[in-house]
Amino acid sequence: MWRKTKVKGAFENPSNLQFVLYITRCRLGVRVLQPQNNLFLLKISKQMDAITGSSLHMIKFNDEFSFSPSLNKISSSISKFQSKFSCMASSSSISSAAGVTQPLKLTGDSFIRPHLRELSPYQPILPFEVLSTRLGRKPEEIVKLDANENPYGPPPEVFEALGQLKFPYIYPDPESRTLRGALAEDSGLESEYILVGCGADELIDLIMRCVLDPGDSIVDCPPTFTMYEFDAAVNCARVIKVPRKMDFSLDVQRITEVIEHEKPKIIFLTSPNNPDGSVISDEVLLKILDLPILVVLDEAYIEFSGLDSKMGWVKKHENLIVLRTFSKRAGLAGLRVGYGAFPLSIIEYLWRAKQPYNVSVAAEVSACAALKNPVYLEKVKVALVQERERLFKLLKQVPFLNPYPSYSNFILCEVTNGRDAKKLKEDLAKMGVMIRHYSNKELKGYVRVSVGKPEQTNALMDCINRLS
Ligand SMILES: Cc1ncc(COP(=O)(O)O)c(C=O)c1O
Repeated sequence: MWRKTKVKGAFENPSNLQFVLYITRCRLGVRVLQPQNNLFLLKISKQMDAITGSSLHMIKFNDEFSFSPSLNKISSSISKFQSKFSCMASSSSISSAAGVTQPLKLTGDSFIRPHLRELSPYQPILPFEVLSTRLGRKPEEIVKLDANENPYGPPPEVFEALGQLKFPYIYPDPESRTLRGALAEDSGLESEYILVGCGADELIDLIMRCVLDPGDSIVDCPPTFTMYEFDAAVNCARVIKVPRKMDFSLDVQRITEVIEHEKPKIIFLTSPNNPDGSVISDEVLLKILDLPILVVLDEAYIEFSGLDSKMGWVKKHENLIVLRTFSKRAGLAGLRVGYGAFPLSIIEYLWRAKQPYNVSVAAEVSACAALKNPVYLEKVKVALVQERERLFKLLKQVPFLNPYPSYSNFILCEVTNGRDAKKLKEDLAKMGVMIRHYSNKELKGYVRVSVGKPEQTNALMDCINRLS
């Protein structure tokens, strides 16, 4: 439960004093390492209700170095000690060559919140143009089956609408009213329950910013979409992992125990799940909704499952949020439009916390134009679902692949017969076919292939057969 951050530093004046600063969730303390005769410092420690910001920054102030907490709440708590806190500190360790303690230089990273300094960077896929240069192929020649994009792209109405943008120099509607109206018609849920974001990704982060205090926890059920874990780390939240079972179904019993004992605030459920394409049954969802936790149901791929969205359920369940996106269903991944259905008691706070212009004019216009052609959207969906079934049968015939049945626009395959999944991905990339490989422990030995157009499936299978 206790977050402990150690910051080592040395007094510049009057003597070289080594100390350790402890910042925990409810205590700020300083322990002097040497020399130990500055007794007043030993007394510096203060009980606090909760340190809601996880970091204290060191700043230069009136030719002295003083603590500058990142939040006002902390500021008021420690301002009384300012005179005693006249010091400099850094996260880098003290040089003790020849037993002499050197004063530390203040470095830029000492301003960064400690939990972010520990964060490993998110590894996004390579931009298309970079990939194309690296592979020495034109973008059109690359068979891109690594990011679950919709290869058909949006309906023609989107290109027309983008070409006719009248007021790109005016800020967009902060409430995305036109799009929310269109989404209400599309989903059957009134627009007051709907909020639009810069991709579902933005909404995941926004929900966490509204719900989680530093030190709170979320439940993540890997293998799944990795942004939940990433955003939790950015928001200083703890991630309690309840791995899926061997068949990728949820471990409901373990989820129940964890919620009871560790009191996490949010659970992220993905249906169909990325990367295996399995869906969550109504029965399981209802069981989890009965638990005292906010359930975020990510339906980024729901269109390919043949199942109805649960957006309407937010009217009955105060602890349910449903997320969806235009990235997959409408081929608009590059324009970044996601949306969510929220109980009214929750949505109010997201409105308050969101960036006012989070959905660009181009994004809103594109999404509205896409919804104007439901026939196209349906046709593309049917094409992808049919192609998924054909791809599954073809992959099943490959002696070193074990594909999993999927309700989505991708297929997860176990790489068997002593073949190496990473090498398979690299060999295919050299031939201009991109698939997704995983380095995390749950999916070591697996690859994921997005469903493309029939000619892309043919190209993939040709290359795989050449490697057989
Ligand atoms: C499960 C899941 N949720 C959300 C997203 C992100 O959606 P968006 O493009 O709207 O940010 C993805 C993207 O791959 C995903 O797999």
